Amino acid sequence: MASEVQSFDVVVIGGGPGGYATALYGASAGLNIAVIERDKVGGTCLHRGCVPAKEFLETAHVRRTIAHSSDFGLSVSDVKVDFSVSQDRKNEVVDTLFKGVSGLLKGRKVTVLAGTAQVQADGTVTVLDGEDAGAVLKGTHVVLASGSVPRTIPGFEIDGSLIVTSDEFLDLRSLPASAVVIGGGAIGCEFASMLSDMGTSVTILEGLPAILTGCDTEVAGVVQRAFKKRGIDIRTNASVTGHTPASDGSKTTVHVEGGEDVEVELVVVSVGRRPRTEGLLADGTGVEINERGFVVTDELMRTANPAIFAVGDVVANTPQLAHVAFAEAIVIIKSILGESPLPVDYDRVPWAIYSNPEVAFCGLTEAAAKERGYDVIVKKDPFGGNSRARIIGETDGVVKIIAEKRADGTAGQILGVHMAGPWVTEQLGAGYYAVNWEATADEAAMLIQPHPSLSETFGETLLALAGRGLHVG
Ligand code: NAI
Repeated sequence: MASEVQSFDVVVIGGGPGGYATALYGASAGLNIAVIERDKVGGTCLHRGCVPAKEFLETAHVRRTIAHSSDFGLSVSDVKVDFSVSQDRKNEVVDTLFKGVSGLLKGRKVTVLAGTAQVQADGTVTVLDGEDAGAVLKGTHVVLASGSVPRTIPGFEIDGSLIVTSDEFLDLRSLPASAVVIGGGAIGCEFASMLSDMGTSVTILEGLPAILTGCDTEVAGVVQRAFKKRGIDIRTNASVTGHTPASDGSKTTVHVEGGEDVEVELVVVSVGRRPRTEGLLADGTGVEINERGFVVTDELMRTANPAIFAVGDVVANTPQLAHVAFAEAIVIIKSILGESPLPVDYDRVPWAIYSNPEVAFCGLTEAAAKERGYDVIVKKDPFGGNSRARIIGETDGVVKIIAEKRADGTAGQILGVHMAGPWVTEQLGAGYYAVNWEATADEAAMLIQPHPSLSETFGETLLALAGRGLHVG
């Protein structure tokens, strides 16, 4: 017997940041919403991405702090690493947040169904498997929020022990003595940094001429130098061809074209993420999928089918960031409510990479600003002169601000704020407002930063940009 069709204002496929934010924001506006999730609400970000990875990076931070304790006259001996405790703590943090998201959905009366969903040509959504297999849902609007999965590369079959992606890494109970990280992007640098701080000997193999190619080159340079100082071996222009496991399976030798082999206990593959769109759409839905499998949308997140939107990592040509998905979810719900939202300005979203040193930025890099034809003024202030950075003993880093040069030669609108250094992911907020409020250098420079604080380096850079720095030239 065919299932009875359940009707909703919005049917959301996927319960990650894009999907659950669409549901929560829509439900708070009074819409009747269903979410279909085949695993757990919270998605990659909560269960296999941002949150667990940052928990491990915090473990690395604590270990680093202990390693420097003698600088403060505190002697700590016999420091042992039990990574399984960090895993358990991570699981606790994730579980608490998972209960929080589930509770919020329940509290706002969102219907959550378990299973894999598929959109049919007539616009209905069917649940193909799982606890709610066979359910058929009809939404006035459908939102595709099926997310992404780690990309893999030929010659490196993921086995969960010698060869892992971020997914498998998040379940390791102990850390290796040596590791290769393939790919020096955001995920690669976070894992390399964490492993190195925890005592693992790390080699990064990056195919391009530099690591963190999406970042301003000077900011990426700060990370590169700090990594090298800590003994991380960074090999760029490295093309990996495969690996040969030792006969006892305890190690493997990674082969690099035209370069030296590297023998390690673990290989972390972090070469980007691909969209999860296989089987998402039956034939005839009218939704366009590009050659790389991403869903094509307009700037208001609408697909080629007017009733179907897409949000988050599955969307083509947009940053794969949880907070971008949150913003897109709001755009979708406001569109559905007829509230004429502004599209997300992808050039000006905040980025945060939680390596040591951290990286955070917003707006155009110096190179991108010049490419777009801007005449620019650039000012930089290193953290070395910041009193709080000296106090905490973390002075590697810089704040760099790019502004448009006015006809009279002074600095006008702020185009980009780029930071590397201690706790910059917590400091970028001010830079984000400056860029997105389209502040000019002199307007932003008038604002006071507390003393002593790490944020003074941002304030100092602004003063210099506005013409006269207190401490910066
Ligand atoms: P990514 O695209 O940022 O970096 C992948 C790197 O791997 C690139 O530098 C690329 O040149 C390199 N690569 C690709 N194939 C290679 C090969 N065969 N050999 C050597 N190098 C190769 O991707 P990543 O780091 O995996 O992150 C995926 C997504 O997740 C990104 O879009 C990122 O925005 C997001 N993310 C953001 C984080 C953050 O902002 N803190 C943290 C984690 C992920």
